[in-house]
Amino acid sequence: MTQETRYITTPIYYVNDKPHIGHVYTTTLCDVYARAMRNFGHDVFFLTGTDEHGVKVEESAQKRGITPQALADENAAVFQSIMEMFSLTNDAFIRTTDPKHESQVQTLVSGLLASGDVYLGDFEGWYDSGQEEYHTENSARELDYKSPISGKPLVRATEKNYYFRLSAYQKKLEKLFADHPDFVRPSSRRNEVLGRLREGLQDVPISRTNFSWGIPMPDDPEHVIYVWIDALFNYITALDLGEEDKTLGKYWPANYHVVGKEILWFHAVIWPAILMALDLPLPKCIYAHSFWISEGRKMSKSLGNFIDLKEIDKYIDVYSMDAWRFYLVTQGPLGATDADFAAAKFHDVYNAHLVNTVGNCASRVTAMIEKYFDGAVPADNGEIFAETDWKSICSKAAACSQSAMETFSLQEAVECAMSIVRQVDLFINTTAPFKLAKDETKQEELGAILYQCIEALRISSILLHPVIPVKMDELHNALNVEMPKQNTSTALEWGGMEPGTTIQKVALFPRVEFATSE
Ligand code: MSP
Repeated sequence: MTQETRYITTPIYYVNDKPHIGHVYTTTLCDVYARAMRNFGHDVFFLTGTDEHGVKVEESAQKRGITPQALADENAAVFQSIMEMFSLTNDAFIRTTDPKHESQVQTLVSGLLASGDVYLGDFEGWYDSGQEEYHTENSARELDYKSPISGKPLVRATEKNYYFRLSAYQKKLEKLFADHPDFVRPSSRRNEVLGRLREGLQDVPISRTNFSWGIPMPDDPEHVIYVWIDALFNYITALDLGEEDKTLGKYWPANYHVVGKEILWFHAVIWPAILMALDLPLPKCIYAHSFWISEGRKMSKSLGNFIDLKEIDKYIDVYSMDAWRFYLVTQGPLGATDADFAAAKFHDVYNAHLVNTVGNCASRVTAMIEKYFDGAVPADNGEIFAETDWKSICSKAAACSQSAMETFSLQEAVECAMSIVRQVDLFINTTAPFKLAKDETKQEELGAILYQCIEALRISSILLHPVIPVKMDELHNALNVEMPKQNTSTALEWGGMEPGTTIQKVALFPRVEFATSE
């Protein structure tokens, strides 16, 4: 059987910004999916990177008296370092100043010029200089002629530009949305895009002449390619689709482009139209998450509630990297509403799910095996007077977790795995092995109970591994089992824990003092 591929991407991040919770969040979501897909035996390509061209980078570099390339190198390195810092398992890191990216963008744009999808024309519109984005009369009016991001007035601008013939794709895009209701998720975001799409599409300028830090238009170096077009191409240049040798092309189309809600239009409308013009298959889903706010308010440096790397570090120091990942994934803005990052909530979630559920269950089970069986996993041959069909509980939870991961329902995937852990706890309370331990005639029953517990725990730990990999590795060490390297399907079957295996007691998530952001 040929191995299925999975391709997931983050947006590429602007190098004139420093990484913060937003960037870490999107990348962590993709990381969880990539890890889970690898566990399920798929051939995965997980891409992230940096968006390095444009007037903002040129201006910031000027202010610091360095070249735009030097600024880009410096900040791309910071973004690259967070991959290691947060155990993010990206397969590649693309930079839009990579010569390989630049030359492919030129090849791809030449193709669009040749097909007539890109043409030279006059442009008049409302320009948001901060966002480097043009607005049509309609959308500018709706915005009250102000930038939706900076609040600064939009300016009327005219220039000769190269245009992409977006208007020609109106019908095809409408059909795409009608035929593939899951093309944009969640559905409320899809409705927003559809609403705007129905207002009608106009051609979009894709070149600029007011600055030079960008990829020159083929055969017309006065013009540089608009940074957004340059950036969108990263998803295919990273796979060499603009090269002769397209070995990595096997990963295209992407299963998920994961983006924040503010950049959905580019991904859900402009990008598919460009791909249609290039005759390339379309991504399967654009997943747009909402935003983190902080302690109930929009994040801002002046309010002092900005969650940058320094702030994140404090949480990792106190609670661990896995606790950070767990909070992001289970409490984050995956749906249509923004999510609040609050120190007190973080603490409660840590206690409820990690200390009292995963940690407590693992330490109870391992401690009892150590105490009653000298640390050797008992055999599963006693009769248990409790109607719990562990084999079916675990196989159902594994199937649920797997299908939720496939559909990028990460919170549901975690919940399915956690449900096993919760049932182990309940099972311990109802079968009361600690009482049976006092009766020598009940040794076999006691062993059987603890076997069910440790086996169920082992299975849940494989499902939880993509979210809390460090702690699950620690648990696997203690249980003397290995995280399967490739396909986990055999490892997820009931009975993998060998009786007689020597295990050790574990304390995975210690109780900690409540951390405030001071
Ligand atoms: N360079 C463009 C993307 C080009 S993709 C072809 C860009 N870069 S960015 O540095 O501004 O990063 C935007 C992304 O950061 C968002 O789409 C989102 O993934 C993440 N976030 C930024 N702030 C965020 C929050 N407050 N909350 C959650 N994520 C947000 O746009």
